[in-house]
Amino acid sequence: MTLHQENSQIDHYAVMGNPIAHSKSPLIHAAFAQQTGQVLQYEAILVGKNELTQAVQTFQMSGGKGLNITIPFKQAACALADQCSEHAERVGAVNTLLFNEQGVYGENTDGVGLVRDLVQNQDCQIEGQRVLILGAGGAVRGVLEPLLAETPAQCVIANRTASKAKSLATLFSTFGNIAASSYDALQGESFDLIINGTSTSLQGKLPALPDSLFGECCYDMMYASSPTLFMQWATKQGSASVLDGLGMLVEQAAESFYLWRGLKPETAQVIQNVRNLIVNC
Ligand code: ATR
Repeated sequence: MTLHQENSQIDHYAVMGNPIAHSKSPLIHAAFAQQTGQVLQYEAILVGKNELTQAVQTFQMSGGKGLNITIPFKQAACALADQCSEHAERVGAVNTLLFNEQGVYGENTDGVGLVRDLVQNQDCQIEGQRVLILGAGGAVRGVLEPLLAETPAQCVIANRTASKAKSLATLFSTFGNIAASSYDALQGESFDLIINGTSTSLQGKLPALPDSLFGECCYDMMYASSPTLFMQWATKQGSASVLDGLGMLVEQAAESFYLWRGLKPETAQVIQNVRNLIVNC
């Protein structure tokens, strides 16, 4: 068998985004493949701002089996899928594409990733708890349904633009006890869990939270080599547990891997390996 033939028999996957050089997905999926004995190739592909459709088609035509989709293409990827899960339809964004006989199937595994990291890895139960989620953009929209499925006593969405929080609360009201708030109205409030789903950590900023707000457990959906400003805020106000989103990243990848390969990889060691890599960068 020639090298070319061998290569053409390997199942191909990739993550598409812009920028993409920072992506840890190739590393994570290589670890999953090794661990589960799967022979596959996974690469990171930089896609021009208006070139997603072309890039996905080219990848599919060349025999690609599936894709992860990241910023800024999650909504566009949902639109180009032939069929999406009900959850992804509601979110209006996908992070996973699967190519099969029926065409292109889209799913959003971000929320499952968040819930698994909280409940299974961090032992942070959501059931019966008061949960505050900061932000009302795409990232929050993607995780609300799986969060509400854990039946928190209440889920409050607070956002700088309070009207957006209100719209999201209305949209997801059939899935559980959900309310909207401004940041100012959080004065003196206490929650079992506060999740930062804003993009502030990416900008090196912090939402304008009242000093008197308290969260027993605080979780930033972002991660960095050192604690984000939100994590520093949480530590300062005495949270018992301060967590970043690295576990969510690995768990959402594990769910994508499961969709593609039908196998659930172990995530604990992979999270630790990526953590070591980030810290030593
Ligand atoms: P993403 O896909 O990451 O969610 P997005 O849809 O642009 O990105 O949403 C960004 C979120 O971060 C929004 O909730 C935004 O608040 P607004 O709706 O008021 O814009 C929030 N955000 C961004 N910068 C912020 C800041 N400096 N302070 C507070 N919230 C901020």
